[in-house]
Amino acid sequence: MQYKIFNLPEFIAFIRENPSLARQLFENMNEYYKQFYPRIRFSFDIFAKEARKYWDKMLFVFALDSENAHTFAGFLTANAFSKEESGIVYLAHVIVEKSQRQRGIGAELVRAFAQWVAENRFFDESISRFIVDINTANHASLAAFKKIGFVEDAETQARRQAEGKLNYIRLQLTI
Ligand SMILES: CC(C)(COP(=O)(O)OP(=O)(O)OC[C@H]1O[C@@H](n2cnc3c(N)ncnc32)[C@H](O)[C@@H]1OP(=O)(O)O)[C@@H](O)C(=O)NCCC(=O)NCCS
Repeated sequence: MQYKIFNLPEFIAFIRENPSLARQLFENMNEYYKQFYPRIRFSFDIFAKEARKYWDKMLFVFALDSENAHTFAGFLTANAFSKEESGIVYLAHVIVEKSQRQRGIGAELVRAFAQWVAENRFFDESISRFIVDINTANHASLAAFKKIGFVEDAETQARRQAEGKLNYIRLQLTI
């Protein structure tokens, strides 16, 4: 796996310049939304419009096949715009090309990005934790993130005791 890290303007330019890679990403995104958020249809324009509000605190990580730079391997977005606590990066849209899952790409991508964040400042932030919110029905993803080393945060444990059934589970990784 090789990967590129972009801010929003760079990411939009990359998507425009690489329509085949963009199509592969969007197909995977569409399928993910259909499965877990059937009322929402993934649209890059809406995604980019939302991202524009926060782009000064957001990065886009695009992974390519190690042998073939024209083949999409995986993707994630990372943001530090939620100001509950400092030192946190929220991961979202973590996705691996469907035909390439369970081969270690997701874990490699998260670990590579964690190393990059530890070695570089995330905008003006010093980051110590990743957080990801996962739909409770997304068993594969919950299993994968836990295997990577993410654990339930205290808030999720408290919500689980108070509410019983949860819609999403918040996991965190100290980096
Ligand atoms: C979640 C996702 C990114 C994981 O990527 P991946 O490349 O398949 O994961 P990896 O191969 O790196 O697996 C990491 C660990 O999780 C485990 N794992 C992965 N998929 C699993 C599954 N379906 N069931 C159980 N365990 C699983 C692996 O066995 C591995 O552990 P190991 O190294 O000890 O064997 C991928 O399943 C995906 O793209 N899902 C659709 C999008 C999505 O739901 N994203 C999450 C929303 S934030």
